[in-house]
Amino acid sequence: MSLNVEIFADLSPLIDRALELTLGAIQAAIAQRGRFTIALAGGNTPQPLYEQLATQDLPWQDIFIFWGDERYVPMSDPQSNAGMAAKAWLNQVNIPPENIFPMPTQAPDPQEAAQTYAQQLQAFFRPDAPEWPRFDLVLLGLGSDGHTASLFPHTAALQVCDRTVTVGSKEGQPRLTLTVPILNEARCILFLVTGANKQEALTQIFAEQSDATQFPARLIQPRDGQLFWLLDTAAGEPLKNYR
Ligand code: 6PG
Repeated sequence: MSLNVEIFADLSPLIDRALELTLGAIQAAIAQRGRFTIALAGGNTPQPLYEQLATQDLPWQDIFIFWGDERYVPMSDPQSNAGMAAKAWLNQVNIPPENIFPMPTQAPDPQEAAQTYAQQLQAFFRPDAPEWPRFDLVLLGLGSDGHTASLFPHTAALQVCDRTVTVGSKEGQPRLTLTVPILNEARCILFLVTGANKQEALTQIFAEQSDATQFPARLIQPRDGQLFWLLDTAAGEPLKNYR
């Protein structure tokens, strides 16, 4: 794994860098494998990246969009991560609808929905990756409690390692989330983190020892890929001397 921590004055240069890395990953993946796969994040921080991507002229037919996690609400709900990305980006470009794989949230039982998404991933990736799918790029945010995707502190989802998708829980509300092992198969993972309320979590995540069940983002260590933490100065204060 190669680890990079980059700290930016504010959100704007952070997003410029995220765009540069995303465009580089798109170009490399399409050149090497003929397609680009990405898992998107929710939260506020990635939205301007999606808005930037909407302005690019890209080979949309070769770009395949998945999600790292989802609130268990319809896509029309303002809480929906897929709904946010659709408005900010995907509805603005000529990407074929069959290239977009939102997490399903219609089944009465979220466990069933998690299984359905796992099957969709398997059907899409299986010819290239008989064991675990490898996303070219995974975007992740960080919660002030140390969660990422919908891997919340002290929840059962953190332990799941025999499936690609599981049910997470935020304050008793179900979420769908990719599991730690599939996230760690990614070729590149990009954390986008802003705000001073993330300092404590970042301190714990980068500490030599701390409890990963309390700070789940510590579990994100790509097995054979690149990990970028893009931080603004407010979030990155504890890591300003990190090398
Ligand atoms: C959630 C949030 C969460 C979010 C992080 C970072 O579903 O609980 O969306 O997962 O990604 O809290 O959010 P910001 O990018 O808005 O700081």
